[in-house]
Amino acid sequence: MQILVTGGSGFIGSHFIRYSLNKYPDLRVINVDSLTYAAHPDTNKSLESVAPGRYQFVHEDITSPKVADLIRATPIDAIVNFAAESHVDRSILEPAIFVMTNIKGVENLLNAARKKGGVRFVQVSTDEVYGSLAPTDPRSVETSPMSPNSPYAASKASADLLVLANNKTYAQDVVVTRCTNNYGPNQFPEKFMPLLIANAIEGLPIPVYGDGQQVRDWIYVEDHCSGIDLCLRKGVSGEIYNISSDSEMKNLDVAKLVFKKMGKPETLLKFVGDRPGHDRRYGLDATKIINELGWKPAMSFEAGLEKTIEWYKKNEGWWKKLRGKEFYDYYSANYDVKFKTASTSGTP
Ligand code: NAD
Ligand code: TYD
Repeated sequence: MQILVTGGSGFIGSHFIRYSLNKYPDLRVINVDSLTYAAHPDTNKSLESVAPGRYQFVHEDITSPKVADLIRATPIDAIVNFAAESHVDRSILEPAIFVMTNIKGVENLLNAARKKGGVRFVQVSTDEVYGSLAPTDPRSVETSPMSPNSPYAASKASADLLVLANNKTYAQDVVVTRCTNNYGPNQFPEKFMPLLIANAIEGLPIPVYGDGQQVRDWIYVEDHCSGIDLCLRKGVSGEIYNISSDSEMKNLDVAKLVFKKMGKPETLLKFVGDRPGHDRRYGLDATKIINELGWKPAMSFEAGLEKTIEWYKKNEGWWKKLRGKEFYDYYSANYDVKFKTASTSGTP
């Protein structure tokens, strides 16, 4: 089997490639990535020795006609699309690139796969397409209506609709996975979990948006990868599969737990203004993938958290390199000014 993975130089894509090459000795992977600020191509360098001759990197943008040419000219069985602009805060400030990559890029890949034929298309999507739940709402299931609230979520929902429409219109072989908030090694330190850990190590304040009572449903990245792998191989065409390890937690409780495990003072937590359009709660029901495909998560939240903290402690060079000037400029410009002035519920 040969698969084309897009966005494989980012957080989840790089874990998926490593997981897949380790699990399937005959698998070959082509990784197409445009290497945006979120990419860390060095992480994949060791794949040459882990899987000699089975890993190839192509530096290209998924919106480019060159990618469509590559798909046409290369024998592949499937495309697994991770490539995306993935950070909600950035989507609030610069939505255009989210439309370009997350919608136009998907359309480009999807139609190249359709024209070629015989290529399964797996769209890696998110629980954020369902929008915000109230505290007592049941968890979102695959048939729950989409109700995205951020430009990021709206772009992902749009892509899901395109992918599912191609299945209905052209009988194209597609599967959509929707997963909860991932955490684990190699996550760019702008998302909440790696920001918490990296800032705690550096003694920097951690901005807690609003009252910190927002709920996210956490999953260890390798559990997400095993779910995607099952959907790629056994998922029914045209179906959506939620992936969740049923770990809903309030942001403030996550922060306190991380600090407790790291022996850091809670005084580093700084309440700032809320994120505009901030979804209050995500909670995802994964009964379908568990019952129909036999998936089960392997990592508990506490064990995953400890593993992740250890990794960030041992790999300071990795994330400090990513925290270049651009990171600190972005950090101060956006968090200190924009969100604070947009405050509605922040309690300093
Ligand atoms: P990431 O930001 O860490 O990585 C994205 C990768 O895509 C980067 O390597 C980047 O260079 C690449 N990329 C971006 N634009 C591209 C383009 N136009 N052409 C080619 N490559 C491009 O993201 P992630 O957290 O690994 O997320 C991967 C996927 O999983 C995304 O589609 C995201 O929506 C989805 N997802 C993420 C989470 C999460 O918690 N991180 C949860 C559910 C779903
Ligand atoms: P994030 O990691 O950006 O993921 P998402 O918005 O896709 O869920 O944020 C997770 C939660 O943490 C979300 O409720 C926003 C909150 N958050 C903060 O309180 N402070 C921060 O600095 C960041 C980045 C996020």
